[in-house]
Amino acid sequence: MLKGKTVLLGVTGSIAAYKTASLASALKKLHADVHVLMTQNAVNFINPITFETLTGNKCLVDTFDRNFEYSVEHVSLAKKADVVMIAPASANVIGKIAHGIADDMLTTTVMACRCRKIVAPAMNTNMFENPIVQDNMKILENYGYEVISPAVGYLACGDTGAGKMPEPELLLEYILQEIACEKDMQGLNVLVTAGPTQEAADPVRYLTNHSTGKMGYAIATVCARRGASVTLVSGPTALKKPQFVRMVEITTAKEMFEAVAGRASEQDIIVKAAAVADYRPKSVSSEKMKKKDGELTLELERTDDILAWLGGHKRPGQFLCGFAMETQDLIGNARQKLQKKNLDMIVANSLRVEGAGFGGDTNVVTMITENEELSLGKMSKEETASKIMDRIMDIRAAEDIGGSENNRI
Ligand code: CTP
Repeated sequence: MLKGKTVLLGVTGSIAAYKTASLASALKKLHADVHVLMTQNAVNFINPITFETLTGNKCLVDTFDRNFEYSVEHVSLAKKADVVMIAPASANVIGKIAHGIADDMLTTTVMACRCRKIVAPAMNTNMFENPIVQDNMKILENYGYEVISPAVGYLACGDTGAGKMPEPELLLEYILQEIACEKDMQGLNVLVTAGPTQEAADPVRYLTNHSTGKMGYAIATVCARRGASVTLVSGPTALKKPQFVRMVEITTAKEMFEAVAGRASEQDIIVKAAAVADYRPKSVSSEKMKKKDGELTLELERTDDILAWLGGHKRPGQFLCGFAMETQDLIGNARQKLQKKNLDMIVANSLRVEGAGFGGDTNVVTMITENEELSLGKMSKEETASKIMDRIMDIRAAEDIGGSENNRI
């Protein structure tokens, strides 16, 4: 994902420095070229050899290191960088950079970088809350740096409060958001639905399905990384909330309908990956239903078909993409939904195919439009999401060029 990208990691003197080793490793696994710059104080917390082993690159500490070509050429590294992250960032380094002081390898290199810079402060709560540090962080923000709010929790110094460096997974998300994708969806509003809905029968039981939300979350993440303004309307899932998207959490089909219908008119693209319940119990018992001898019949009523409603209220230029999960006649059934619900595209997958369907990390889909069927092989849900969005963007571009429905591929 990060092949050909250069990431500079600045590490300063904080106990959180050990976490940056995991970040460096994760970046390397995504094929980034990772260079670590450490302050002299950071070396007291983690050995540069750790980073050198993980990244395969010399760890830069001292501007006057005579053993390495970059020692006098920190500017070339600065030029190569696609993004710089200083994590952990001490109060000292934040203060120095905010005031233009460049007196070691890290600060001189950062000063010479034109790319986006992200700072993850990590320090004692009292230091973090000190108005001088707060002002320095504002200065950095005013100069276009992104300052990640530290997590709140138990700190190594024994205090509890704000000042903890966020976990490496979160730091990685910031880097991916910055450099993983071309920002070809900048300026577009995208609404994605994901997960199941739950339809209560009583305060204890509900009707639902096996959807885990993974496909929809992958689509929302990909769109956000490509620069779109993303709203994710999600049913209950066990997934971590994606960064950089607006989350709207709902439980029932009715709540999803309201959340989607109320936001639909502002959207350029709507992708309905959610597995919405088609029926809900007609009456919801306010007390727990006690078991009785014999059978129980639950009377069900239809929920709103949200996608059909969207198809009926589609504004010109809006792209509507549905999903269809089938167990038989995949293409025929999906095509019927495409027409009936007035969609621009439907993504069909079969529960009968290995690697497709609920829960797993892969999918096998066919993207169906009025005149085309494009099958993708088995791939991760994230890759599938990218391909779906590529196709949607291509179709939109072709429409803009041709300016007519008939030019649709
Ligand atoms: N959908 C929806 N609202 C519903 C039911 C489905 O918006 N009440 C959307 C889903 O999010 C999906 C598409 O419609 O994008 C197809 O859903 P699916 O369950 O496959 O189809 P149904 O229309 O419910 O038809 P059937 O259950 O007969 O297969």
